[in-house]
Amino acid sequence: MRATPFFLAILSTMTPSLVIGQETTTYPPLPGETGTYPPTPPETPPPENVIQAILSGIGSGFLGTQNFPPIHHWPEEEGLAYENVTFTSEDGVSCSGWFIPAQGSDKIIIANHPRWFNRAGIPEYSEADARAPGSWWAVNFVPDYKILHDAGYNILAYDYRNHGLTDSTYAHTLGLLEAHDVAASLRYVRSREDTKHMKIGLFSRCVGANANLHASTLYPELFENVQAQVFAQPLTVRVRMSRIMEYAGISDDYSEAVSDSIRNTTGYGFADYELVPLAEHVQIPTFVFQVHDDFNTRPSDVQSVFDAIPIEDKKLYWIQGTNRRWHAYSWFQEHPEQVVDWFDRLMV
Ligand SMILES: *[C@@H]1O[C@H](CO)[C@@H](O)[C@H](O)[C@H]1NC(C)=O
Ligand SMILES: *[C@@H]1O[C@H](CO)[C@@H](O)[C@H](O)[C@H]1NC(C)=O
Repeated sequence: MRATPFFLAILSTMTPSLVIGQETTTYPPLPGETGTYPPTPPETPPPENVIQAILSGIGSGFLGTQNFPPIHHWPEEEGLAYENVTFTSEDGVSCSGWFIPAQGSDKIIIANHPRWFNRAGIPEYSEADARAPGSWWAVNFVPDYKILHDAGYNILAYDYRNHGLTDSTYAHTLGLLEAHDVAASLRYVRSREDTKHMKIGLFSRCVGANANLHASTLYPELFENVQAQVFAQPLTVRVRMSRIMEYAGISDDYSEAVSDSIRNTTGYGFADYELVPLAEHVQIPTFVFQVHDDFNTRPSDVQSVFDAIPIEDKKLYWIQGTNRRWHAYSWFQEHPEQVVDWFDRLMV
């Protein structure tokens, strides 16, 4: 167990330029990095056989049978007491998680993790194996739970399908079927004697945010006592794929073929994965944050999801000073105030 919270340790080692109140951090380059980010597209498009191989690789990248990293951090590292819990989604997936109690509190945050992560964060990869290009360092989410716990929140942090200790299924569906796991987590909180009357907040990142959006459209009745939600980097599949193709030097004319390749594996194409039509139904105060220059997407993607949310009580925060996606996943533990204030104001 560390004496210094993780986020303070980071601040003391990364020599950021930090402006209190504006929260502008200049993130240093990663030691030993060799790649160029964003990647530079080739001058001429690849030959057709290479394009076809890339297209089929995109489809098979959605298979659910990939071997994901195990849980690599535990709540006791931050001195947190917890319970291992499981609950089952409507389509039979057994989900595994931690319930971290906060004595005397009637508020609970359910944490939904990003793709490639699990409830504990993500271990380090080599640069070549980065899950998002240029983002290959480890992220530990346990300090996030410590911050929320100390701010007076119970936590339910779980792994959705194909991640951590939760069951595997045939395909990753970037939020579409993972929505059933979000629904199961809400039902689970409602089913426990000690949590059933709690006010609920959702802290949902990347595909966890996509899944949250799909779930709130599919199961609106389960969101009735959700009082606040925070989304880090919801991501529209079509936009992500257009950037992958751009960096590979492949024309937009192949967009339909990419959609078909994903449909071949998952049963769903681009149109099914759009987030704006889901955001139009949001009735819960929502705080969205995103690395503005994240080259895996475009700022217009998150901006359009945010703009589509039809209620007044919403907020968008751009993280500046980096173009790396993972920086959004340690941003909360470096700068907890905005998110904690959001939950504190709304979960009363
Ligand atoms: C939770 O489960 C893990 C094994 O998956 C075990 O090592 C750990 O001791 C359990 N923790 C508690 C509090 O039961
Ligand atoms: C469809 O997916 C299966 C399973 O991944 C694969 O074997 C097959 O080649 C794919 N077909 C096309 C047209 O991509």
